[in-house]
Amino acid sequence: MGIKLAIVFMIAFATSAVAGAQPLSGCPSSCGGVEIPYPFGVGTQEGTTNNCFLDLSFNLTCDGTKLWANTSQVSTISLQGQLELYMPISRLCYNESGGVVADEQPSLAPAFTVSNRENKFISVGCNTYGYLNSFKNNSTYSTGCISKCQQIPDKENTGVCSGIGCCQVDIPVGMMNIMVDAYSFGFDARVWAFNNCSYSFVAKNGWFNFTVEDLRNLRYKMTPLVIDWAVGNQTCETAPYSQDYACRSYNTECDDTGSGYGYRCKCKEGFEGNPYQPDGCRDKDECVETKPCSPNGICNNLIGSYECSCPDGYEGDGRNNGIGCSLKGNSGRNTSLMIALKLLTSKRALSFDRPEEERNLSVYFVSSLNEGRLLQILDNHIIRQANVEQLMEVANIAKRCLMVKGEDRPTMKEVAMELEGLRLTERHPWGYGNTQTSSEETLHLLIPDTGDDVGVNGTNTEIDSIKQISILWDGGR
Ligand SMILES: *[C@@H]1O[C@H](CO)[C@@H](O)[C@H](O)[C@H]1NC(C)=O
Ligand SMILES: *[C@@H]1O[C@H](CO)[C@@H](O)[C@H](O)[C@H]1NC(C)=O
Ligand SMILES: *[C@@H]1O[C@H](CO)[C@@H](O)[C@H](O)[C@H]1NC(C)=O
Ligand SMILES: *[C@@H]1O[C@H](CO)[C@@H](O)[C@H](O)[C@H]1NC(C)=O
Ligand SMILES: *[C@@H]1O[C@H](CO)[C@@H](O)[C@H](O)[C@H]1NC(C)=O
Ligand SMILES: *[C@@H]1O[C@H](CO)[C@@H](O)[C@H](O)[C@H]1NC(C)=O
Ligand SMILES: *[C@@H]1O[C@H](CO)[C@@H](O)[C@H](O)[C@H]1NC(C)=O
Ligand SMILES: *[C@@H]1O[C@H](CO)[C@@H](O)[C@H](O)[C@H]1NC(C)=O
Ligand SMILES: *[C@@H]1O[C@H](CO)[C@@H](O)[C@H](O)[C@H]1NC(C)=O
Ligand SMILES: *[C@@H]1O[C@H](CO)[C@@H](O)[C@H](O)[C@H]1NC(C)=O
Ligand SMILES: *[C@@H]1O[C@H](CO)[C@@H](O)[C@H](O)[C@H]1NC(C)=O
Repeated sequence: MGIKLAIVFMIAFATSAVAGAQPLSGCPSSCGGVEIPYPFGVGTQEGTTNNCFLDLSFNLTCDGTKLWANTSQVSTISLQGQLELYMPISRLCYNESGGVVADEQPSLAPAFTVSNRENKFISVGCNTYGYLNSFKNNSTYSTGCISKCQQIPDKENTGVCSGIGCCQVDIPVGMMNIMVDAYSFGFDARVWAFNNCSYSFVAKNGWFNFTVEDLRNLRYKMTPLVIDWAVGNQTCETAPYSQDYACRSYNTECDDTGSGYGYRCKCKEGFEGNPYQPDGCRDKDECVETKPCSPNGICNNLIGSYECSCPDGYEGDGRNNGIGCSLKGNSGRNTSLMIALKLLTSKRALSFDRPEEERNLSVYFVSSLNEGRLLQILDNHIIRQANVEQLMEVANIAKRCLMVKGEDRPTMKEVAMELEGLRLTERHPWGYGNTQTSSEETLHLLIPDTGDDVGVNGTNTEIDSIKQISILWDGGR
């Protein structure tokens, strides 16, 4: 249940550095400092006539200092399906008598899909409108924006592209075959005095910082933008059955692009590397890379996963993001309640992202309870099902169990009796369903499922003691 998800999240959130470019053997691994991972490639494998690239859409060229995809310079390639390249800026410029002295409308190689999440379309000028044209599936789509101003904008407009001297729009999904076009509303001598060109371009989010000086002369000739790449024209539904399926490594999976056109490959959870190469996905050593176990825990890397344990004399799950390793002894109910709390609060999975003071779950829990914020930290799923008052009572019991001083803590038996009392009153049924399911739900919240891969040893005394509740509970039925 919850914990399993938590672990999946933990791994998913930990970004792993993909080691090495991994081109085909006998192929250049980089050009001008840019790594070239297969399916991309330059030329043919050394001593053969085999292409270094998967198919023509991954055919790159190297002029010795720069890497090119058709006529665009490539600056980075990621195996997660993105490519960064430079595209020339479109401009339309007048001379002082209104003659057109520059009119450039660049386009991008047809196979490139502009990432709608990573880029913006931008126009700069004071008498300007810009178009982004796309020819997709044999029809044309255009989007764009307008910027007009009769005098040079105030310096306050520097840094923002809000429609004064600079406008920007989002890019629709799946635009291929794009062409960028800057236009003017016609020569205007007053505007020309401070803005002699209209500019349009696509740039990756956050890259362009407008300044009013850009109206006189834009600082750039090219802009970096992000392309989404994919293999072929099939989706994951059919691709794995085709002869030229590109996910060639063991431990890979097919990854749909979402645009309905092409697919990508990725290494399975716990593996990393290049899924397009045979044997490209290698076991990831989580113990070294993501350090999932607590400092006093013992990390053991497994093929495709890992496990955390505690040294002799300690107990717990040994996880950084879990309960760690606590000294064995009188802390039994503490450990088991920590587990129960973890099940209660789904946010635990994201504790990397939480502010420092929220990291210690027990502190977080108790302070949330004291400040009346408990509901904010509880799992949505639980809130939906539960009666709030009862939840608070259970939470209060949990809080008392977390009291640092031993004598303030209720005994297991007391806890069991209180929980039993809650169940018997039935003034406020736990859930909206029948009571049978409701009490089971409660048990699930409080008793860790030892079959789960939470890493807790099912035979340890903490779990046994909390199981007592379950036995008492069952006896009360
Ligand atoms: C790859 O692209 C280069 C440059 O456009 C071209 O000269 C070469 O013939 C292409 N390779 C193949 C196999 O088409
Ligand atoms: C402005 O450009 C037009 C068209 O290119 C040209 O005919 C004209 O001579 C230019 N005027 C000046 C002052 O440069
Ligand atoms: C480069 O141009 C060739 C020929 O026009 C085309 O087949 C290929 O798909 C293009 N490559 C990319 C990455 O667009
Ligand atoms: C392309 O257009 C045709 C005809 O308009 C349509 O039937 C088809 O579904 C479209 N394909 C995609 C991938 O959008
Ligand atoms: C694209 O549209 C043109 C004009 O409507 C038509 O002649 C052509 O056959 C179409 N191409 C495809 C691949 O559908
Ligand atoms: C536009 O004006 C700027 C600044 O006066 C000048 O440097 C630039 O050459 C002009 N651009 C064109 C295309 O005439
Ligand atoms: C624009 O500003 C952002 C944030 O300050 C910065 O990261 C980025 O490099 C700047 N872009 C350019 C082209 O200078
Ligand atoms: C898909 O790609 C294959 C091989 O490149 C090609 O033969 C086929 O015509 C393509 N199909 C479509 C619908 O574009
Ligand atoms: C309760 O558990 C926490 C987390 O493992 C641990 O740091 C703490 O020492 C334990 N408290 C007691 C009294 O055992
Ligand atoms: C969490 O806070 C409690 C109470 O302050 C403390 O006893 C415990 O050692 C802390 N645990 C960790 C892992 O910092
Ligand atoms: C659980 O603990 C028992 C007793 O300490 C030990 O024999 C057993 O190997 C442990 N199992 C696991 C999966 O750690």
